[in-house]
Parts: sequence; C-alpha cells; structure tokens
Amino acid sequence: MAKTTSQTLRKELLGFKEFGTSTQCAELAAGGTMVPVYINEYWTAKQRAASNLHEVPYRACFKPQLPRFFIERLTRPGDRVYDPFMGRGTTLIEAALMGRRVAGCDVNPLAATLAEPRLAPPAQDDVLAKLESLDLTGHAEVNEDLAPFYHIDTLGQIQALRRYFLNRELDAVDKWIRMVALTRLTGHSPGYFSVYTLPPNQAVLPGRQRLINEKRAQVPEFRDVKALIARKSAQLLKELTKEQLKHLHSSDRILLTSEASQTQALADNSVSLVVTSPPFLNVVDYKTDNWLRCWFLGIDAATVQISQIKKLTEWQQTMTRVFHELARVIKPGGHIAFEVGEVAGGTIRLEEASIPCGIAAGLEPDLVLINAQEFTKTANCWGIANNDKGTNTNRIILFRKP
Ligand SMILES: C[S@@+](CC[C@H](N)C(=O)[O-])C[C@H]1O[C@@H](n2cnc3c(N)ncnc32)[C@H](O)[C@@H]1O
Repeated sequence: MAKTTSQTLRKELLGFKEFGTSTQCAELAAGGTMVPVYINEYWTAKQRAASNLHEVPYRACFKPQLPRFFIERLTRPGDRVYDPFMGRGTTLIEAALMGRRVAGCDVNPLAATLAEPRLAPPAQDDVLAKLESLDLTGHAEVNEDLAPFYHIDTLGQIQALRRYFLNRELDAVDKWIRMVALTRLTGHSPGYFSVYTLPPNQAVLPGRQRLINEKRAQVPEFRDVKALIARKSAQLLKELTKEQLKHLHSSDRILLTSEASQTQALADNSVSLVVTSPPFLNVVDYKTDNWLRCWFLGIDAATVQISQIKKLTEWQQTMTRVFHELARVIKPGGHIAFEVGEVAGGTIRLEEASIPCGIAAGLEPDLVLINAQEFTKTANCWGIANNDKGTNTNRIILFRKP
C-alpha cells in the first residue's frame, strides 16, 4: 500500500469515479485562507462490506469505510493511527485490522470497555467454555429502575453476571463477554435482554420505558442471557480472517479514558494519522444514553463528565485545545481527518468553524472532502438533519502538520 502525500490525494480525489459520479469542486474561505473542497461518493454501501467486528451499537458512530479511506491512503502498516474521540473504536478497529498500531481516547469510560476486547478477540470456543462455567442462577434483587425493561428471571441473570464482573480481576475472555453483554442490555428485537425499547444505542430512562410498555401493552418476556451473548459473540467473530486476527493480536495499542486535550501518555510526534469525529454541538445527550451501561459496569453515571457544548464559540475553544494536543502528538507531515456533521439544520457549518481552530494550533488545512451517500440506518443515528434529501454527507477537513 503506497503512502501518498496530500498533493497526490488531491489529484486522486479530482479524478475519482469509482462509484459512477465525477467529483465536484468548490472552494471554502475560512480562517483567512481558501481551502479546496471535493464532493463525490468516495465510499459507499456498495463497497466491500466492513468487518462484523464493528457491529457494536454506539451513538453517533461512523462507518468503518470512512477511516479506511484515509488509513489506506495516508499510512503504511506499522504506522500509529489515533482517534481522540474514539467512541466504540471504529477508527482503531479498522486500523488494527489493516496492520496499523493504534491509539484511542474518550472521556466516556464505556468507550475503552467496548473497544479494548475487540482489539484482541478471543476464540468463540473459549467464550462458550467461559459462559458454560458461569453460575447465573439465583433470585433477582428488586430494582424499580430495571423492572420496566426485564423479566424477573432475566434480571436475576444480568445481576449475577454483573456481580461476577465486579468481583474479580477480568481476563481477556471476561472482558469480551462483558463487552458483548453491554451491547445486549436494551434494544428493539428478541436478540436483546430487554423488552422492546429504543434501538440499543439510545437507552431510555425507566419512566419513559413504562410509558412504552403501556402504549404497546407489553410485559418483559424471559430472555436467556448466556444464549444471547453466545449468539452475538459468534456474529462479531464471524469471517475474521487469519491475517486479520494476526494483525489484531500483534497490534500495539494505547487506550485512554480522558479529555482529548489531556493525553500526556501519548508521546510527541508519535502518530501518523488521526481520524476522528468530535462531539457535535449539543446533538447527542451521552449522559442519558449511558445510565444503564454505567450501572452494569458499576460506574456512577454522574461522575462521567461528557460535556454537551451549546455555543459555537465554546465548541471552537474546546476544539482548539484538542488541536493543540493533536499538533503535539502528530509527526511532521502527518494528517488529521476531522469529520463534522451538519448541525442546526445545516445552518451551522462545523467544517468552516473548525478550520480556524486547526490553524490556531499550527496545522495547515489541506482540503475538505464531502462524501455524499445514500441515506442509511447508520447515518440515521448521527442526528444529521438532511433526511428530506435522502442523502447523508460526511464532511471531513484534512489538516496536515507542517
Ligand atoms: C461523535 S462520537 C465519536 C464516535 C466514533 N467515531 C465511533 O465511530 O464510535 C464523539 C465521542 O466523543 C466523546 N467525547 C465528548 N467530549 C469529549 C472530550 N472532551 N474528550 C474526549 N472524548 C470526548 C464522546 O464520549 C463520544 O464517544
């Protein structure tokens, strides 16, 4: 895989026609400079499918094709790829599958819990043996908040599994099972532990679930926790090739639970490429999303300080601090692909707002890439307000450290 410079990338974007349409060009004036903009369908659902290992629900996640596009073009095997707002770890998993070293950071402790086990996945036989050995029998403890979601016997199994995780040093298989269990806590099909609720990346509060139950005239049915974990585990591990497994197990990784602007554990000039999507202005309430997963992990959700930034100037100040930190950890000549959404119905263009923040940190804006693609389910979880057009756009500013 050849390493291309941003100059070569510009040429490639100009001539790009892989999915039938030609690139449209524009220019954007921001931060006292003109930046070229390339618009096309650069990655698409028509492409080779992504690994099942990504199939972990997380709010505002991006598709693996997005980081893959930049990792393929701007790094070589062995280079370090980093995501300071890693979420479920899409960038890290994709980079590790491609033989890159990885690093990730997120202020939400849930992120590392979801990403770490998938960077070193166990064999399904070991997962089944561990599940077999667990004793999940016993009575459920009464819990008013959880009662609207679970059958009493399912709740007993979930509570037993939670106690198991909280009371010991976890090995790799335990961490894998805990990650899979986290993805099954609530959802809208019989593949989840709960009665019908919202999609799994949007846990509702107990009062709201009581209303959903009333409206649908539903009561939680029994779900077998071990069987559902075994099934989801098999799905995640399906079709991983020997080569991918080798890459994953040999990939060196650094995972941080921290503010993206405070990552002292990352060495200066150590990262070749950042592919990231920051929290958008006030779009996602991560705190409400988190309560049930935090309960399962024994974390007090009130201690997880994920800021919801409401003002654009405040968002820019926060991102400028993050860009300063990224400018420290990136190698000279390295890149940042910074993906932002359209917020406030497209009236606020975060790509324009981001460019001065990067420049203030000494970075050069190389180009803006807009990927226009068919509207999809994954896109739907982004909170992007252009559903009426039937398309979804990813807007990426590519910065370079001089
Ligand atoms: C848009 S999501 C990223 C999703 C990710 N690209 C994925 O595919 O899962 C933004 C993430 O930033 C995290 N976050 C918000 N503020 C942060 C901060 N100040 N420092 C680090 N992470 C932060 C949130 O917890 C959330 O996981």
